[in-house]
Amino acid sequence: MRGMVLSVFLIALVAATCAVAQKKPPTSAVEGRDWWKRAVFYEIYPRSFSDSNGDGIGDLNGITSKLDYLKELGVDAIWITPCFPSPQVDFGYDVSDYENIDPMYGTLADFDRLASEAKKRNIRIILDFVVNHTSDQHPWFLDSRSSRTSAHRDWYIWRDGKGPGQPPNNWVSGFGGSAWKFDPTTNQYYYHYFYAQQPDLNWRNPAVQEAMFDVTRFWYKRGVAGFRLDAVDTLFEDPNLTDNPILRPGKTAFGDPIEQNKYNTKLPEVHDVLRGLRKIADEHDAVLIGETWTADVAELNQYYGEGNNELQLPMDFLFTMVNKLSPAEFRKQIAEVNAASGWPTFVISNHDIVRSYDRYGDGKHNDQIAKLMAALYLTLRGTPIMYYGEEIGMKTTPPTRKEDVQDPIGRTGWPKEKGRDGERTPMQWNGSANAGFTTGKPWLPVPSTYETHNVAAESKNPDSVLHFYERVLRLRHANPALLYGNYTPINEDNLKVLSYLRLYRNRGVVVVLNMATTPQKVALDLEPHGFTSAKKLFSTGISAAHGSEVSLPPYGVFIGELGK
Ligand code: GLC
Ligand code: CA
Repeated sequence: MRGMVLSVFLIALVAATCAVAQKKPPTSAVEGRDWWKRAVFYEIYPRSFSDSNGDGIGDLNGITSKLDYLKELGVDAIWITPCFPSPQVDFGYDVSDYENIDPMYGTLADFDRLASEAKKRNIRIILDFVVNHTSDQHPWFLDSRSSRTSAHRDWYIWRDGKGPGQPPNNWVSGFGGSAWKFDPTTNQYYYHYFYAQQPDLNWRNPAVQEAMFDVTRFWYKRGVAGFRLDAVDTLFEDPNLTDNPILRPGKTAFGDPIEQNKYNTKLPEVHDVLRGLRKIADEHDAVLIGETWTADVAELNQYYGEGNNELQLPMDFLFTMVNKLSPAEFRKQIAEVNAASGWPTFVISNHDIVRSYDRYGDGKHNDQIAKLMAALYLTLRGTPIMYYGEEIGMKTTPPTRKEDVQDPIGRTGWPKEKGRDGERTPMQWNGSANAGFTTGKPWLPVPSTYETHNVAAESKNPDSVLHFYERVLRLRHANPALLYGNYTPINEDNLKVLSYLRLYRNRGVVVVLNMATTPQKVALDLEPHGFTSAKKLFSTGISAAHGSEVSLPPYGVFIGELGK
């Protein structure tokens, strides 16, 4: 009898536990237009995520095999950097066929399987749309360069030189050297903002627009939930090819003059294209994320479009430029982007910049600082886009010898510019050889920190960076104030501790972040907002609250529920 009671009790307990486990957090349950406001995005650099066939290069089947990991972590959407057929001069950002998968990453069937497995787990897929240029091996360009009268001639930007051996104007490529390359077949120059193997498309040609818009339709039909639009500000150029002004004397890392890209970036025509892409996206309930490097928030604002009809999620890179643990500077940046006309989009790392682990880390407390930064950008009002490996505290490992460099800009810019290999090293899954990334020879070396910083080890350690991410993301998904609440800074004159409220209806959460190397005590200024206390939801170290007073260890984090 006792046994039966016990087993009935156990069954009930198991059932209750399962019910809790199955109760979907609001984000995954929410459908409809604004899903991207509640979703946590995660950028995957496919070469470096997980290799399923031992060739040393990650692939789509590798990603599929890690979907459970991503789900458990709290990821709602993955952005995969370009996995289309490509000569890989810029590791996929030189696309030779927009409607297929590069054999090194798999097949369309592998993609479909990834999409359906992701869907089962309520994870959406975002692809990377390289809109400004194709590969010089794309059939469009091969035809374009073949003769001055070819069908695709006007799909790219061809011009006569100024004189013998002289390019049409002074524009320099973002990747070094003139932005013009002479092509002897037709005795004209073509324009390339990036590498010469990445000729710029001529978006003034309606046929280019239609072909590119169709690419998005192709992928929407295959279940893609949106695109990250690459290098959007480079889409148009001044048709008169006016020379760019020289900003100041001196040379870039590539030895070029320092120009202001006045006539070849950020032309207003960009917005017509964004509106066109958005119209199609809206038909598919999809999201457009932008690679939007801007000088200030006013410029960022333009990418939302008047009437919010352009990008839903233009990335706020100004946030990545704070680059030091300065509450005052973060406050300023966050306030500005919160006053923007659209929804903020936060990133702290990506495949083009030094990882946040090193940008903010002091070399001694990097794990604590990684947690602090996670607590910051994952609790702000806005959508966060994580970068693979950030959640385990992966560090940047730049090459030490020129001959090891993979990223071409690291070779042309060496030693001033070492390229972007350092932030693209293989994901660290476990403590075995090659960090469990591949059974072959990894295309980039695995950083030595893989022995301590890997998914398997960190899953077992409650103090790990990984556990911290999981806990913050769980809280974020389940707490309406963190999802929908407004952003209200408090204690704004504190130069060491950043504190803010997220208020939603009559509830609220307070986030308190100690950015200093010393312990801090803060009397939170809650009363003006109708609250008197903060009850701990989550904290690091021995952070504690007494009424409205919070004590934090160095780099400590306190997240509390507000009480009246
Ligand atoms: C974007 C990508 C970068 C690439 C460049 C050219 O900036 O993020 O990786 O090299 O565009 O496509
Ligand atoms: Ca592979």
